[in-house]
Amino acid sequence: MNTKKKPLYIAFSSQKGGVGKSTFTTLVASVLHYRLGYNIAVFDADFPQHSLMKMKTRDLGMVMENEALKKLAYKQFTTINKKAYSIMACKADSVLEAAQEFISGSTIAVDVVFFDLPGTVNTPGILKALAGMHHIFTPITADRVVMESTLIFTQLLQDVIMKKGETSIETINLFWNQVDGRESTPLYGVYNQLIEKLGLSLMRSQIKNSTRFRKESEVDSKTVFRSTIIPPDERLMKACHLDLFIDEFLKIIQL
Ligand SMILES: Nc1ncnc2c1ncn2[C@@H]1O[C@H](COP(=O)(O)OP(=O)(O)O)[C@@H](O)[C@H]1O
Ligand SMILES: [Mg+2]
Repeated sequence: MNTKKKPLYIAFSSQKGGVGKSTFTTLVASVLHYRLGYNIAVFDADFPQHSLMKMKTRDLGMVMENEALKKLAYKQFTTINKKAYSIMACKADSVLEAAQEFISGSTIAVDVVFFDLPGTVNTPGILKALAGMHHIFTPITADRVVMESTLIFTQLLQDVIMKKGETSIETINLFWNQVDGRESTPLYGVYNQLIEKLGLSLMRSQIKNSTRFRKESEVDSKTVFRSTIIPPDERLMKACHLDLFIDEFLKIIQL
């Protein structure tokens, strides 16, 4: 896709680690870049882990060792006729400038830049980086600690930072991740009410808890879920409701 529009800046962001920021960055970036034809770039500003940078190296190794996936990747890249998306490491306090520089130097028109930002408010430059996003998506899990810190921080972001103007933020969206069928529904009901009362936006789609997320592809597997090289298998996406999530995501960002 070759829009002349300015690229959208999007972050899966949370003050809590382990809620799915890096995972969703990869899953959504791969669907958009490899399946839907958009041009994506990713900035990994989660210093010092840089988990996405490591992921790409691992994913490449995995694809090369697996005959089925190698064929899949070959077919994909000859069909879409473009390269894998770039993942660049950078610190939070200079990531907006780095993205700007990448975009102006890129020969292809970039549609979306994803930012994997650190999960602590005291990282230098984190608030400035967040204020530079157009859309923020925050995974939440039914856990008291996650909910407390997320609701407080999201409200601050919305009521203090967004209202002051001077930000690019258009939407902040919470979404349920790792939803377990066995967990008591009252808990979700209570949190949903609280979210509404605080005036925060909650996405309708909920991502199920699935072992798929924790499994790396193996030497003999023929399907891929979370990969920076190949988009998630469509059946696996359906099983955890990632397909519905992507539909809603695309409506929100209006790409
Ligand atoms: N819906 C889900 N079901 C099961 N496991 C999940 C789900 N979403 C994320 N995970 C797992 O949770 C862990 C933390 O995810 P990650 O994306 O690394 O979090 P963060 O970047 O926010 O620290 C990973 O092992 C990931 O596979
Ligand atoms: Mg992470």
